[in-house]
Amino acid sequence: MKIIGIETSCDECSVAVVEDGKRVLSNVVATQLDIHRPFNGVVPEIASRTHTEWIWPVVMRAIADAGIQKSDIDGVAVTNRPGLVGSLLVGLSFAKGFAYAISRPLIAVDHILAHIYAAHLEHEIAYPYLGLIASGGHTIISRMDDFDAITVLGTTIDDACGEAFDKVAKHYGFGYPGGLAIDKLARMGNRGAYNFPDPSLHKGEHTYDVSYSGLKTAVINQLHQFKNDEGDTRPEDIAASFEKAAIDMLMKRVSKALRDEGLQRLVAGGGVAANTYLREIAGSLPGVQIYFPSLKLCTDNGAMVAGIGYHYLRNNLSSSRSVNAYSRVDDFKKSYP
Ligand code: KG4
Ligand code: ZN
Repeated sequence: MKIIGIETSCDECSVAVVEDGKRVLSNVVATQLDIHRPFNGVVPEIASRTHTEWIWPVVMRAIADAGIQKSDIDGVAVTNRPGLVGSLLVGLSFAKGFAYAISRPLIAVDHILAHIYAAHLEHEIAYPYLGLIASGGHTIISRMDDFDAITVLGTTIDDACGEAFDKVAKHYGFGYPGGLAIDKLARMGNRGAYNFPDPSLHKGEHTYDVSYSGLKTAVINQLHQFKNDEGDTRPEDIAASFEKAAIDMLMKRVSKALRDEGLQRLVAGGGVAANTYLREIAGSLPGVQIYFPSLKLCTDNGAMVAGIGYHYLRNNLSSSRSVNAYSRVDDFKKSYP
C-alpha cells in the first residue's frame, strides 16, 4: 500500500511516498529556513503563503522521485494538528482536493504521533515503549501502547526544549534555529563549569513536566555577565553547562517514567533528538533499548506522516472531508472519525 504524506505544520513543506508504513520511496523536504532566518523565528503569515506556493511542485517532485503515477497512490495522509493553523490549512486543503481528485481516502494525522512514528521507518520496534518528542515546538514524554495510543505523561509548562536552545543561541549571535550551533560549541566546553538549576515544579504540575523559561533566563544572564567580564569564563563552557542542564532535566524525567511505567524501550524524535549529548545520555540508560530516527527523520518530514497514515488505513480509519486543522495538542481525539 503506497501512501503520500503531506507535512506543512510549521516551516518545512515536505511530501513523501511510503510503502506499507516502512519503505520510503521518496521524501522531499523543502525548508523555508532561509526565508524566516532574518526574523529569528518562523513568521506564520509568511510560512503559510510560502506553503501555498510550494505545495504543488513539492507533491509533484515526491511522486516523480518515488517513480510512481498518481493512480498508484492508495491514500493521502496529512498533518492536521498541532501546528500553525494557517500552515496546516494549506497542506490540509491541498490534501482534501488531491484525495478527491484521485478518489482515494484522506487520513488526518497528528504531528506528535507522526514524530514518534518516525523511528519505525528505520527500526522494528515493539509496543509498549516510552516516547520522547523534543523539538522547537514540543516537549512531550509519553507512554505509547500502539501507533495511536498515546498517554502523555509530561510536557513543558513554558518553552519547548528546542525553543530554549534557539533563544540561547540567539544571544550568541547564531542564526535561527541555533540548536545545532549550541550542540557544536558545547562539545568544546566544560559541562561542569556552571551549575544551572533544575527548577522544582509547583504543585499541580505533573511529575514528568519540565520548564525551560528559568534556565533560559539564567543562561542569558550568565552570557551578558561574560560579555562584561574580564574573568576566565569561556562561552563554550556556558553552552556546555546549559546543554547539560537542559538535557539532564529531560532525561531525569525520562528515566523516572521508564522506571515507573516498567518500560524497557525508549523511542525519541523531533529536532532536539539530533543532539549529541542527548544521544549520549540516552545510550547510557542501563537496560533500555534506544531507538532514534536518522537525522533527516528527526526534523519535520512527510515520510513520518505517510508512515503512520498506512496504519490508519490498514485499520480502515480514514477522515471525513470536513476535518479541520487544530493548533493545539489537547485536541488529540477531536478530529478522528
Ligand atoms: O522537529 P523540528 O524540525 O521542528 C519542530 O517541530 O519544532 O525541530 C527543530 C528544533 C529547533 O529548535 C532546533 O534548534 C532544534 O530542533 N535542534 C537541535 C539540534 N538540531 C536541531 N537542538 C539541539 N541540538 C541539536 N543538534
Ligand atoms: Zn515537528
